[in-house]
Amino acid sequence: MRKERIERFFRILLLIFLPLLRSTVSPASEKEVLLEFKGNVSSDPFNSLKSWDPAPDRDPCRDFNGIFCDSNGNVQKIILKSTSLVGVLSPSLSGLKSLWILSLFGNRFTGNIPTEFAEIGTLRKLNLSTNALSGQIPEFLGDLRNLRLLDLSKNSFTGEIPSSLFKNCIRTKFVSLSRNSLSGPIPSSFANCSRLVGFDFSFNNLTGSFPAESCVPPSMAYISVRSNSLAGNLPELVSTCQSLEFLDLASNAFSGSLPFDLLQLKNLSFFNASSNQFRGEIPDIVKCSDRVETFDISANDIHGEISPVITNCRNIRVLDLEFNQLNGSIPVEIGNLKSLSIVRLGNNMIEGTIPEEIGSIEFLVILDLQNLRLSGEIPASLGNCRFLLELDLSGNNLEGELPQNLYNMTYLKVLDLHHNQLNGSIPTSLGELVMIQFLDLSENLLSGSIPSSLGNLTQLTHFNLSFNNLSGVIPELPNIQQFGLTAFSHNPELCGAPLDTPCLATSGNRTTSKTGRARLLSVSAIIAIVAAATILTGVCVITIVNIKARKRKGKEELVLESTPIGSSDSNLIIGKLVLFTKSLPSKYEDWETGTKALLDKDCMIGGGSIGTVYRTNFECGISIAVKKLETLGRIRNQDEFEQEIGRLGNLRHPNLLAYQGYYWSSTLQLIISEFVPNGNLYEHLHGFSYSATSSSSNRSELYWSRRFGIALGTARALAYLHHDCKPQVLHLNIKSTNILLDEGYEAKLSDYGLIKLLPMLNNYPLTKFHRAVGYVAPELACQSLRISDRCDVYSFGVILLELVTGRKPVESPTATEVVVLCDHVRGLLERGTASDCFDQTLRGFAENELIQVLKLGLICTSEAPSRRPSMAEVVQSLVKVSKERKPNRKSFLLEFLDVS
Ligand SMILES: *[C@@H]1O[C@H](CO)[C@@H](O)[C@H](O)[C@H]1NC(C)=O
Ligand SMILES: *[C@@H]1O[C@H](CO)[C@@H](O)[C@H](O)[C@H]1NC(C)=O
Ligand SMILES: *[C@@H]1O[C@H](CO)[C@@H](O)[C@H](O)[C@H]1NC(C)=O
Ligand SMILES: *[C@@H]1O[C@H](CO)[C@@H](O)[C@H](O)[C@H]1NC(C)=O
Ligand SMILES: *[C@@H]1O[C@H](CO)[C@@H](O)[C@H](O)[C@H]1NC(C)=O
Ligand SMILES: *[C@@H]1O[C@H](CO)[C@@H](O)[C@H](O)[C@H]1NC(C)=O
Ligand SMILES: *[C@@H]1O[C@H](CO)[C@@H](O)[C@H](O)[C@H]1NC(C)=O
Ligand SMILES: *[C@@H]1O[C@H](CO)[C@@H](O)[C@H](O)[C@H]1NC(C)=O
Repeated sequence: MRKERIERFFRILLLIFLPLLRSTVSPASEKEVLLEFKGNVSSDPFNSLKSWDPAPDRDPCRDFNGIFCDSNGNVQKIILKSTSLVGVLSPSLSGLKSLWILSLFGNRFTGNIPTEFAEIGTLRKLNLSTNALSGQIPEFLGDLRNLRLLDLSKNSFTGEIPSSLFKNCIRTKFVSLSRNSLSGPIPSSFANCSRLVGFDFSFNNLTGSFPAESCVPPSMAYISVRSNSLAGNLPELVSTCQSLEFLDLASNAFSGSLPFDLLQLKNLSFFNASSNQFRGEIPDIVKCSDRVETFDISANDIHGEISPVITNCRNIRVLDLEFNQLNGSIPVEIGNLKSLSIVRLGNNMIEGTIPEEIGSIEFLVILDLQNLRLSGEIPASLGNCRFLLELDLSGNNLEGELPQNLYNMTYLKVLDLHHNQLNGSIPTSLGELVMIQFLDLSENLLSGSIPSSLGNLTQLTHFNLSFNNLSGVIPELPNIQQFGLTAFSHNPELCGAPLDTPCLATSGNRTTSKTGRARLLSVSAIIAIVAAATILTGVCVITIVNIKARKRKGKEELVLESTPIGSSDSNLIIGKLVLFTKSLPSKYEDWETGTKALLDKDCMIGGGSIGTVYRTNFECGISIAVKKLETLGRIRNQDEFEQEIGRLGNLRHPNLLAYQGYYWSSTLQLIISEFVPNGNLYEHLHGFSYSATSSSSNRSELYWSRRFGIALGTARALAYLHHDCKPQVLHLNIKSTNILLDEGYEAKLSDYGLIKLLPMLNNYPLTKFHRAVGYVAPELACQSLRISDRCDVYSFGVILLELVTGRKPVESPTATEVVVLCDHVRGLLERGTASDCFDQTLRGFAENELIQVLKLGLICTSEAPSRRPSMAEVVQSLVKVSKERKPNRKSFLLEFLDVS
């Protein structure tokens, strides 16, 4: 009996003191919890947790960095932002019974959120954005009844968004799951979160339609579903979404008509529906909210005229209508929109003149009217837009002179007026635009001389005056001469370096430099003449013998062979010409006229580590490309040469440049292949390297679907070489100059299978081979020479990155800085800001697709060869990306524009 009483007494005592006991004990245990959290951090590069010291005199509330306590001494907030901690999230945090805020933005925590976190019922704000968390989004987060804000953006979560995430979300105000790899539909259960103000599900792979319940929560103001795979028509929104401020639908596959009526919503300020498949016209709605600042419907299928109703959006700053099918003219009322800073109307079918009224938009920063059908003169009033950074009027029919008052635009960085009918001379005052980086006046009718004031333009990174009627001596200004002859070519009366046209001597003291130049020229002329003579002799000898056809591996081969006549005449060159195809002329006369131009400098179309390429035309209209080998690499004799090239002559693939024959003599070796007219990928992405190729090239011609086609074509060609050819053919010299483009911008891979002809790494100066540096797989570059097909995969990966970013594999923006493309992209992708590295000239693409291609590029450029996929797998991945693509209307539109 007594014992029982005592026991009861103690039990009561315990009950009374337990809460007390806990609150006195807890600081110590919370400290342990935090130390356990620290114990799961494996790397702390900035010593952010240095103050988290187990010493007994250390109080977490007072001493621990990033810890904030409530008045009872319990941990209330953990805020460790951008501290780059690496590790896993410790389950121990569930021991913090008063935790309100857990903000670990900008670390490298991996794994998933521990299930123990379900016990932190006090949690109000969970911000784990920008980490490396993975797995499915845990369902238990839906049980945290006090949660106001959930941010899991910029992680690697996969799977679907669990419907139960919104089970108990009555207090939730904002959810961001942006930039993960989520798939499946958006669960409609989020409509139960009655206080929800916004959600951001952008940059995932979500499918299905736009949730009809979006504005059931009455205060819904912020909706972003950008860059997903959502499709279908939009539900009616205007009646329910009265509070909407921000709506981003960009880069999905939405169709149907655009909800222009949303513009009348009182609080709407941001509306982006670009890169979808919306159709229809801009209607004559009467109202547009005064708050609208951004209106972007670019890259859709909107036609009709630009309704002047746009001008009702009185405070609009960004107006982007480019890549649609708009016609009519630019409404003069646009001048009333005094807040405009960005206007992009390019790539439509808009005609008429540039309204003078644009000059009254004082704070205009970007005016992009490229590739329209504008005529008339450039209004002088543009000079009033003193804050312009970018003026692009290229690809129109503008006439008249360049405005004399452009100098008013002191901040201008981009001035692109190429491909118009502008005449008159280049105003001297252009030299006052000292900030200018991109200056393109090519393909106009400009005359007169190049003003020396251009020497003031020291920031130039792109400069082109070609295809005009400029005359006189090119001023000796290094800042413009650095752009080489392509920047000045096709100006018949222009002379002096960097052109090959010497200036006729006019004054006595110029002659010294003149003669030096002439001598230089004549040396190269001599070389050309000697080389031409050589080949002609070679061909002459060929005529001595009869033409015979012979069968080889089932393929007709035409052999023009000279029998060694035993002549001792040292001028006589014995040569052998073998043609793999019957489509080339086989008569001597054809070859004589055809080869007259051969090895003429003007016919040079390319160069590389193996040899120089010339174009040769036959009178019958056929063109071929002839590569004059500069080195035989590891090839020792004629037999070996014939065997190597003969094997390659049998290969046929639509994306391979077909080898059509070869010529061998002891002093001169040629490889003959088909000629493709559209230059190479390098020229299109980075500008010309040789003059005599196609006339006008423009990065914007390489829009995304073309680039993707080039990637896929090249991948298919490589897969054919690696997997279908027995024995396997390796390329080992893949770079953008070796990817040629035909009329339809289809890829034709050249220089394959010429490993033996590559300069030897050991005894050939490294520099030349390594001009391809950036493409060379690391195992090759460090000369361990473990050659395998994965070396090609590496180089191909670099090509993918080059296609998406428009940058060279290695760039050095300043003398001391070197940017290696794949490292740069990897960094950006890890930070979740991959879109920062997209080629600025790319428009009308699905960001999702670019990111997938970037990721593939990075996998291909893995350090370890075993990590890289095979070319067959690469093709599969690319095909998958293209299948996910909605039937691409945009590229269709572009092709249409291209033809017109
Ligand atoms: C995290 O810490 C706990 C306790 O210190 C330990 O048992 C666990 O293995 C750690 N986890 C990792 C991934 O380091
Ligand atoms: C999460 O934290 C970061 C860094 O402070 C912040 O930029 C971001 O807006 C937060 N997320 C939300 C949804 O507030
Ligand atoms: C949302 O609310 C409806 C009723 O209002 C209920 O039937 C449904 O189960 C709720 N959804 C979730 C996920 O809790
Ligand atoms: C995107 O979703 C589609 C369809 O659900 C799927 O086939 C594809 O693999 C997903 N892509 C990525 C990159 O997750
Ligand atoms: C518009 O925004 C203001 C605050 O900026 C707010 O007071 C008002 O309620 C909002 N209107 C609607 C319809 O949500
Ligand atoms: C240059 O800009 C100023 C506005 O600051 C304007 O008054 C002036 O007329 C402009 N000059 C020309 C030539 O357009
Ligand atoms: C530009 O160069 C010319 C000489 O060619 C010089 O007279 C002029 O002052 C320079 N202008 C500026 C803004 O530097
Ligand atoms: C060039 O010749 C002119 C006269 O012919 C002379 O005045 C001038 O000094 C000479 N310049 C040089 C660099 O020799």
